[in-house]
Amino acid sequence: MLSQIKTLAEDLAPRLIEIRRHLHAHPELSGQEYQTAAYVSGVLSSCGLHVQEAVGKTGVVGNLEGNGAKKGILAIRTDMDALPIEERTQLNFASCKPGVMHACGHDVHTTVGLGTAMILSQLKQHLPGNIRFLFQPAEEIAQGASWMVQDGAMRDVDSIFGVHVFPSLPARSVGIRYGALTAAADDIEIFIQGESGHGARPHEAVDAIWIASQVITSLQQAISRTQNPLRPIVLTIGQITGGRAPNVIADQVRMAGTVRSLHPETHANLPEWIEGILANVCNAYHAKYEMNYRRGVPSVQNDLQLTQILENACREAWGNDQVQLLPEPSLGAEDFSLYLEHAPGSMFRLGVGKENNLNHPLHHPLFEVDESSIVTGVVTLAYAACKYWGIDHD
Ligand code: NI
Repeated sequence: MLSQIKTLAEDLAPRLIEIRRHLHAHPELSGQEYQTAAYVSGVLSSCGLHVQEAVGKTGVVGNLEGNGAKKGILAIRTDMDALPIEERTQLNFASCKPGVMHACGHDVHTTVGLGTAMILSQLKQHLPGNIRFLFQPAEEIAQGASWMVQDGAMRDVDSIFGVHVFPSLPARSVGIRYGALTAAADDIEIFIQGESGHGARPHEAVDAIWIASQVITSLQQAISRTQNPLRPIVLTIGQITGGRAPNVIADQVRMAGTVRSLHPETHANLPEWIEGILANVCNAYHAKYEMNYRRGVPSVQNDLQLTQILENACREAWGNDQVQLLPEPSLGAEDFSLYLEHAPGSMFRLGVGKENNLNHPLHHPLFEVDESSIVTGVVTLAYAACKYWGIDHD
């Protein structure tokens, strides 16, 4: 089965590169993936998949029926949206939309999803069970997965695989990780209410700016002194506003930030822990506060068995040298975790780094990929799907 998949993928490579370049040249922002969705839907239909459009607003679902020997559905998720970034590469297929760019490799993901569907549709008489391809919109704003789930994309799904490109891994290699892959990401907004006064008479006022600085300092120090250092937290206050004039003590400060964590227990306790510190600092200095804590996406926790299937598929397909067990998770966030609330899954990193090249990071205006990674992604997913259904023999 592996050699068959590899041959099919090599034959498809020029077509896949054409697809990827088309998608790259025509990026669409989160929630506006109309052309991309229509394109994806067209390719899936031409492979004989049963296609549902507008699942999760601009998402697309393609259902591939196996030969019916086994019940169940394996889902494969890829995302389709681009970023509000002005592309600065000189590629001849660079974005033709000013200010919009596929700088996170979702054009590659979509292509890999389509290539996997093309190959598995040719092998479907051998597939005991069903495969559902999820082409998700709006990953960059962490909304698309929840839209798709609400529209029933995960109904009857038993397991799910996902993929994300990784520029720090060389092309033709893959990164596998057991357990935590990405962090939980929540949003926080804090208002501190003091009492205005003359800048020269602090004892008659309650200085909201100074108290806000105490809150930030206390939180950062408390992470190091009261939290388990083996269960990391990153708290970034990225916005702060307050005050009216240089000689007037500010009566109100608003600050907003992001809170990242990996351990589910740490994640669960974050709002209470932060509010405890906030309340104590404010009480000490006679200020009032308000805190809005919004849960974002949970951490992606890769399932042991499914990760094993992916790892074995990669080792067989690419050899041990091309498979890296990633030593660290990322504190980035990925809404793939929302599917994992409905079925176990595993997401792998696809190396796209170019050799002898400065590889710009994701979300960079000069971000580029080595396109040979597309075949690597397609073979990995197609073969892992076969192994999932127990047909890895030739
Ligand atoms: Ni991404």
